[in-house]
Amino acid sequence: MKEIRKYVLKRSSIYVTVFTLSLLSTSCGKKEGAIISASRNNNIATSHIDLLDDEFSEEDKEKEEFALKKSEERYADYKKRREEAIEQKIKQELYEMCSTLIHKESKMFQYIEENHEQYIDFYIQNKSMSPKDVILNVNIKNCEVLPYYNNEYKDRYVTYHKNNPEIPIDKIIVYVNIGLDTPFYSNTKDIENPYSDLIIANKYNKLPADFVPNGYDKNIDRDLSIKGIASEAFKEMKQAAKEEGLYISSVSAYRSYNYQESVYWRQSKLDEFFSSSKRRKNLSEEQIKEYRAWRDNVSAREGHSEHQTGLAVDINSTSESFAKTPEGKWLADNSYKYGYILRYPKGKEHITGYDYEPWHFRYIGVKMATAVYESGLTYDEFHAMFIEPILRKDPKTSELSSDDFYNLHVEKVFNQYASPQTEEELIMTSKTR
Ligand code: DAL
Ligand code: ZN
Repeated sequence: MKEIRKYVLKRSSIYVTVFTLSLLSTSCGKKEGAIISASRNNNIATSHIDLLDDEFSEEDKEKEEFALKKSEERYADYKKRREEAIEQKIKQELYEMCSTLIHKESKMFQYIEENHEQYIDFYIQNKSMSPKDVILNVNIKNCEVLPYYNNEYKDRYVTYHKNNPEIPIDKIIVYVNIGLDTPFYSNTKDIENPYSDLIIANKYNKLPADFVPNGYDKNIDRDLSIKGIASEAFKEMKQAAKEEGLYISSVSAYRSYNYQESVYWRQSKLDEFFSSSKRRKNLSEEQIKEYRAWRDNVSAREGHSEHQTGLAVDINSTSESFAKTPEGKWLADNSYKYGYILRYPKGKEHITGYDYEPWHFRYIGVKMATAVYESGLTYDEFHAMFIEPILRKDPKTSELSSDDFYNLHVEKVFNQYASPQTEEELIMTSKTR
C-alpha cells in the first residue's frame, strides 16, 4: 500500500511536468518554438522519461499499466504525453548536436546569428546535408521574399554564395541575376526587344547585328546621333548646362554593330597593346585572348555596346580627367534631372565590367534616372532588381515608356526595397564619380 502511494505521488509529478512541457510546446506554436522549449526543458523531459523507464521495477510498471488501463481516457492521455516527451527529447538531442556543428561551420561561412533556429530546423529536416550547405541554403531561402528572387537560379545563388562568402546575401541575388556568377561574355542572351527604352546592353545581353534604333537624330552635335526622346533630353541638358556657363557636346553616340567592332579592334589600339604593328587577321588565339583581356575593360565587343542602342552618349572628352572638370562634375550631379545616368561609375567596375567612364551617359527617362541616381546602384543592378523581373513575367511591358513602366511597376517596389542614399552618401558618391 505504501508502495502504491509512493508510486501515485511520483505519477502525479510526472503528469504535472509532462503536462507543463506539453503546454509550453503548444503555446509556442511554431516548430522553432517547440525546439526552443525542448531546449529549455530537456533535462526535465529526460529525467521524467527516465523515471518512467528506469526508476520503476517491472512490477511497478505493471501496476502502473493496470491502474491507468482502468481509465482508458487517462491511459491514452498518458501515452500521448509520453510520446511527446520522447519526441521533445530526440529533438533536443539533435538540436544540441546540430548547434555545435552549425557553430563550427559558422566560422567559415556567412552565419547569420538571427537565422540560428532556422539553420537548426532545416538541418533536422535534412540530416544528410552538411551544415555548410544548410547555412548556404537557409540564407538563400530567406531571400525568396525579395521581389527579384528568381527560383530558376536557386542553385546558382547557393553556389555563388558558397564561393563568395564575403558578398552580402542580398547582393548575391542581384549579382547572379545580372550574370556575374559566370565570366563576362559567357551565358549571353539575345536582347528580345531592342527598341525598348528600358534596354540593357552589357556583357551578358547582346543586340542583333542588324539592329538600328528607330528615330535617332542624325544631326545632333557634329552629326552624331541619339534616339528621339533621348535626343530632346540631351538638348535640354545642354541648354541647362549652358545657363550655368558650361559647354557640353556629344563626341560619340549611336554606333552600328560593325562600327563598334572596328572601334574594338582599332589599329592604334592593337599597336598600343602589342608595341609593334600587328594586324588583327594575323593574331594567334593566345594573342587574341590577351588583347581581349586588356581591351574588354574599356571597349565593348560588337553587339554589346550601349552605343548601338542609340540611347548612350559620350560627352566632351573620353579621358578620366573629365571627372574633375566643371562639366564632368555638373553632369555627375545633374544629368538624372534630364533622364541620363552615369553608366560606368567609379568603384563599380566589377559589376559593369568597364573602367570608370565619367563621360558616358545613358538615357533611361527622368523618373527611372532619378531612382537610379538616388539608389547609388549601377543600371546593371537596378535593371536586375526592378526591371528584368517585370519583363520576365510580362514581356509586353517592354513596350511601355520608361515613365509609365516606372509608375506602374517600379515606384512602389523601389521605395520598399532600395534604400536611397542619404544626403551625405550622395555627396560622397558624387565626389568619387
Ligand atoms: N566604352 C563603352 C563601354 C563601349 O564601348 O560601349
Ligand atoms: Zn560611351
